[in-house]
Amino acid sequence: MGPPGAGKGTQAAVVSDSLDIPAISTGDIFRDNVEAGTALGEKAKRYMDAGEYVPDSLTNAMVGARLAERDARNGFLLDGYPRTVAQVEELDTMLSDLDSRLDAVILLEVDREELIARLLKRAQTEDRSDDTEDVIRRRQEVFDEQTAPLIEVYEGRDLLVRVDGVGAVDEVRARVVSALPRRAAGSR
Ligand code: AP5
Repeated sequence: MGPPGAGKGTQAAVVSDSLDIPAISTGDIFRDNVEAGTALGEKAKRYMDAGEYVPDSLTNAMVGARLAERDARNGFLLDGYPRTVAQVEELDTMLSDLDSRLDAVILLEVDREELIARLLKRAQTEDRSDDTEDVIRRRQEVFDEQTAPLIEVYEGRDLLVRVDGVGAVDEVRARVVSALPRRAAGSR
């Protein structure tokens, strides 16, 4: 978990590599669908371009299908899911059906100014349609409104691990890996 620009995608790639498990990024799957022109991509695009969340029903169905794939049997790292209370509930059901569970919920903490600076910098080099200044600010608001409450939910379940997300990518990766509970890091 973490607000837009916290480094979820960057860390998901390197940490999942370290643990030899797939990273499942809802943002990436949506963007792949937009690029491929699928019906899901068409539906998702207008929400993404406005900085709003894609409806839970579409997102949950997509994650459910992905978690059922073979490569997720020995573990997985979810990047950017769940983001709403309804998604938490749906994920609980999916995991229980798969006889699986979360080992940890990593929260990448980065201050707001640094988040905006990172995304504005990316806007100069990449072509993400949601990296305009207005949409970047809306994405931060949506995180505060809909996703920040999940911090308390996972804290209450004793799963939340706060990690300082400021520093070199490798430093943050080392912090994440060492903060993982032994059962997550040691079972690989
Ligand atoms: P998503 O792609 O997940 O976007 P996001 O949450 O806005 O996050 P970002 O990808 O912008 O940031 P990040 O935290 O992954 O950081 P990153 O590593 O990229 O989702 C896009 C959209 O899809 C959503 O807005 C929504 O519409 C929809 N969606 C996705 N999931 C959904 C869900 N569950 N429910 C409903 N809708 C959903 O890094 C950002 C930048 O910072 C990069 O340029 C990177 O190089 C740089 N950077 C990374 N780490 C560092 C570092 N340590 N130091 C300096 N720079 C760094």
